[in-house]
Amino acid sequence: MARRLRTQFGAPPSEEPAVTDFLKGYDIQYWLESAPQGYLEDTEYGHLAGEEEPAILRENEVLHEQAIRSTVQLVLGERCALAASSGLINAAPDEASKRFLATQTLDEARHVEVFTRRLHDLGVGKAELESTLTEYGNPNLVRFAELLLEKVDQKDFVAGVVGQNVILEGMAFRVFEMLHAANEATNPKFAHTLSGTIADERRHVGFGENRIGSLIRENPDRKPDIERLQREMSYYMLATFGDAFRQGPTPEQVNQILEKEGVKPERQGEWQGVRLSQATPEELEGVLGDTILKEFKLRLERIGIEYQTPIRP
Ligand SMILES: [Fe+2]
Ligand SMILES: [Fe+2]
Repeated sequence: MARRLRTQFGAPPSEEPAVTDFLKGYDIQYWLESAPQGYLEDTEYGHLAGEEEPAILRENEVLHEQAIRSTVQLVLGERCALAASSGLINAAPDEASKRFLATQTLDEARHVEVFTRRLHDLGVGKAELESTLTEYGNPNLVRFAELLLEKVDQKDFVAGVVGQNVILEGMAFRVFEMLHAANEATNPKFAHTLSGTIADERRHVGFGENRIGSLIRENPDRKPDIERLQREMSYYMLATFGDAFRQGPTPEQVNQILEKEGVKPERQGEWQGVRLSQATPEELEGVLGDTILKEFKLRLERIGIEYQTPIRP
């Protein structure tokens, strides 16, 4: 079993399901075989049984607060995705999309659960969960969620899928990847949770691209409106990342804390050619922004949308 789990938690899959016909890689049978009976089998709340958060995350005040703050953004993002994917089921124009969104709804509910669970593991009591989310929630992320859920409430399927499966998830899964690289050596529990989430998100992004490309071709009149929405939503997403790197300790400060606490600073991973433990907050924000935007522009191009540069937050 150990060998299987290692395979299961190897590097997150780097490819989206290769499908030309979106029905093939996005039905419930595919979901069952690849996720619950595949990479999630034998996991408990997304990680291996018995894995725990490193003690220092609870003992050191700065690291503890930083872990809570970043996990709060994950819970809020996932709550938004849960509300959007479930809301879009009834807005979907075809049965296959409804069924895919039903699987996505369960994925998102699971993400909400595992990240909420992490907050509890970090010592946030059930009674203080909502107030902690309000206290640490990033206002730019909250605004993004409001914009997206407005479209979902209006049953605007094209705008909802672009907002959720292209913008929110296209950007979020790169953030998960970076967090995964940063935590792989020091916090296997959190890294494992992220690994399964990344695999789910790749499927969601793949669906967005496959389904929306054809809908935009069929409804070219929606393009200007969707491009405006992309510009506004991208602004709030990029602003959220900017805030995330400016708040909390820098990688250098984290290393100093670890040294002072007598913990040998373990090597953090490398992501997109950047040594995460040695980078400045500006470098981290830069590499994340560049990676996301480069890929995001390609993704939009593939669905026939021209990228609109937001005002740099
Ligand atoms: Fe998610
Ligand atoms: Fe997702």
